[in-house]
Amino acid sequence: MQIKTAKFVISSSDYRQCPAPDRPEYAFIGRSNVGKSSLLNLLTGIAGLAKTSSTPGKTQLINHFLIDEAWYMVDLPGYGYAKVGKADRAKFATMIEQYMRERENLLCVFVLIDIRLTPQKNDVDFIGWLGERGIPFVLVFTKADKLAKTTVGGKVEAYGKYLESFWEELPKMFVTSAETKTGAKEILNFIDQINQENKNPD
Ligand code: GTP
Ligand code: MG
Repeated sequence: MQIKTAKFVISSSDYRQCPAPDRPEYAFIGRSNVGKSSLLNLLTGIAGLAKTSSTPGKTQLINHFLIDEAWYMVDLPGYGYAKVGKADRAKFATMIEQYMRERENLLCVFVLIDIRLTPQKNDVDFIGWLGERGIPFVLVFTKADKLAKTTVGGKVEAYGKYLESFWEELPKMFVTSAETKTGAKEILNFIDQINQENKNPD
């Protein structure tokens, strides 16, 4: 699948302000600066559609983008950003958690992880939180261009091994780079498959 049209719809500070939940939706989440907005731009092929920044904490609201007039991509603020004050961090966490829990058309959450890092507590906690609530999710390792190609597979495998120490079932995993534009096709095909299944439920 290739995206033909993508347009920004609305920024919301609360899930109740989001567009009517009348089509499939996919959300991008992860630590601040991991590359959520960059991945959205990579997938849509429109640089600058979602605002990116080298300064963490750029995305502060729930941002809806309408794709091919048929489904939504959602760019979310990052979690675990130390420079945002404690009160703001708690507000973000509540906003994201409520959105994830209440958004009935949310078909899959993409949890982004910087491929260079060993498992971080806030990522693992968040993955656990999704798992406990039965919210479907996959992992996306970002910034693969920052590692030597030969080490990428080992990093992903090690992450999986770590998760297997708590979870029986491993989520699907993707490796991406917004820099070298890798991994987009796989993610788009995955989304397309879910969209098709959603159209023709058995
Ligand atoms: P917040 O909105 O602040 O939570 O960040 P974000 O997760 O949306 O990250 P964003 O897409 O704004 O990217 C953060 C920084 O990482 C920017 O300087 C991007 O250019 C850079 N970046 C994102 N993806 C990649 C990648 O695949 N490779 C490299 N080398 N840099 C990347
Ligand atoms: Mg962002």
